[in-house]
Amino acid sequence: MGSLSKSRNYRGYSSTDEEDIIHEAEPWEIPNRTKKWLITLGTLVAVCLLYMFCFLLPKMFIPETKELVGIHKAEPLDVILTPVSSEKANSWGLTTLEYDDFSDDDDEEDEHDLRVSSDEEVNIESNSMKKSKERLILVGDVHGQYRELKKLLRKVKYKKERDQLLVLGDFITKGPHSFKVLDFLIDNDIACIMGNHEYYVLQNYATYHGLPQPFFVNGTAPSFRTTGKFNSDPEFLLAKKLKPKHVEYINNCPVMKELGQVPLHSKKTKGKYGHTEGVAVHAGLRMEFLKDLNAQDPEDCLEMRSYIGPYYNETTDDPSDKGAVSWSKIWNQKQKAGKLDRSLVVYYGHDAGRGLKLKKFTKGLDSGCTKGGKLSALVMWQEKLKGSDKVMYKETLVQQKC
Ligand SMILES: *[C@@H]1O[C@H](CO)[C@@H](O)[C@H](O)[C@H]1NC(C)=O
Ligand SMILES: *[C@@H]1O[C@H](CO)[C@@H](O)[C@H](O)[C@H]1NC(C)=O
Repeated sequence: MGSLSKSRNYRGYSSTDEEDIIHEAEPWEIPNRTKKWLITLGTLVAVCLLYMFCFLLPKMFIPETKELVGIHKAEPLDVILTPVSSEKANSWGLTTLEYDDFSDDDDEEDEHDLRVSSDEEVNIESNSMKKSKERLILVGDVHGQYRELKKLLRKVKYKKERDQLLVLGDFITKGPHSFKVLDFLIDNDIACIMGNHEYYVLQNYATYHGLPQPFFVNGTAPSFRTTGKFNSDPEFLLAKKLKPKHVEYINNCPVMKELGQVPLHSKKTKGKYGHTEGVAVHAGLRMEFLKDLNAQDPEDCLEMRSYIGPYYNETTDDPSDKGAVSWSKIWNQKQKAGKLDRSLVVYYGHDAGRGLKLKKFTKGLDSGCTKGGKLSALVMWQEKLKGSDKVMYKETLVQQKC
C-alpha cells in the first residue's frame, strides 16, 4: 500500500515536475503531426493563390489576345453614291456649301484650273462589289465624344441603310467614351481611317500582349513613337482593355481611303460643283507619290501638319518648326496651278490647332471637340438635274457644339 502510494506519489510528483519543466522551456510547442499538416495546408493555399493571381484573375480581367495583321495604306471606299432627286435632297433639310464658304490663303486662282467641269455627264458605275448609298458623311476627330457624335448624326439625319459614314481617325482616346464610340462604329459597319492615336493604341496593345509591333502591308514597321514598355499613357490604359473585336476594327482601318469622285468648287463654274477624285487621310499627304498612294510614308499620313520649306518635300507635325508652312496651303497652291501629277481633294482631321479649314483641294475637319470646340461632318451626295441625265456633286457642312 505504502509503496504503491509512494510510487504513485513519486510518479505523480515527478511527472508534474517534468511537465512543468517542459512547459517552461517551450510553452507553445505544436506536435510534429500538426506542424506537417499546417505546412501542407499552407502550401496548398499558396499554390491556390498563386494560380488565382497568375492565371484565373488575369483571364477574367485581361481580354483575350488578338494577333495583329498588316495595316493597309491605301484602300478604295467600297461604296458608290446613287444620285438622288432634288426633292429628296431638299427633304434632308441641309443647305449646300457655296464657293464663298471656302477660305483661301491666296485669292488669285483658277486661271490654270482646266480640270473642273460642272454638270458633267456621269456614268454610274455598275460595280456589284460596291455598296450603293445616297450620301457619304465624313466626320473629323471624335476622340471618344460619343454623345456629341450621336447628336451630330441626328442633325444630319444619319441612316445606316442610306448613308456611308467614314470617321477620319482619332475616334478614340482623350474624350470620355472611347469604348462606346468603338462599339457604335463596329455595330453600324462604319468605315474608318487610322489616326495617330489609334496607331499608338495598337503599339501599346502589342506591347501589353507581347506581340510584334504593328506593321504596314508591303512596308517596313515604322519606329515612330514606339516605347515597347509598359507605361501609364492613356493609350496604354485603353489598350489593356481592348477586346478582340475592338482590335480587329482598329487594325483594319487603312491609312488612306480613295473616295472616288467628290465635289470640287470653282469660281469658274460660278459656285457650281465640278468634281475630281477625293482621298481621306488622318493628317495629310505628301505631294510626291500621288499616282500610287501606297508609296506614301504612313508616318507623314498619320502625323504631319506642315511641309518644310523651301522645297516642301519634308514634313513635320510641329507647325512651329523652322520653315514649316501649313501643308494645306502649299497643297492648294500647287493643285490650283496644276503642278501635281494627280488632282485630289484631301479630307483630313488631326489639326485641331488650325481648326475647321475648308479649302478648294483640302477639307480639314478637326474642329477641336475635346477642347470645347465642335464636331464636324461633311456630307456629300449627287443630285440629278431635272429633265436631264446629268448630276451635280454637292456637299455641306454640319456641326455639333461640344
Ligand atoms: C503587296 O505586295 C504583293 C506582292 O509583291 C502584291 O501582290 C500586292 O498587291 C501588294 N499589296 C499592296 C497593298 O500594295
Ligand atoms: C528635297 O528637295 C531638295 C531639292 O530638290 C533635295 O536637295 C533634298 O534632298 C530633298 N529632300 C528630301 C528629304 O527628299
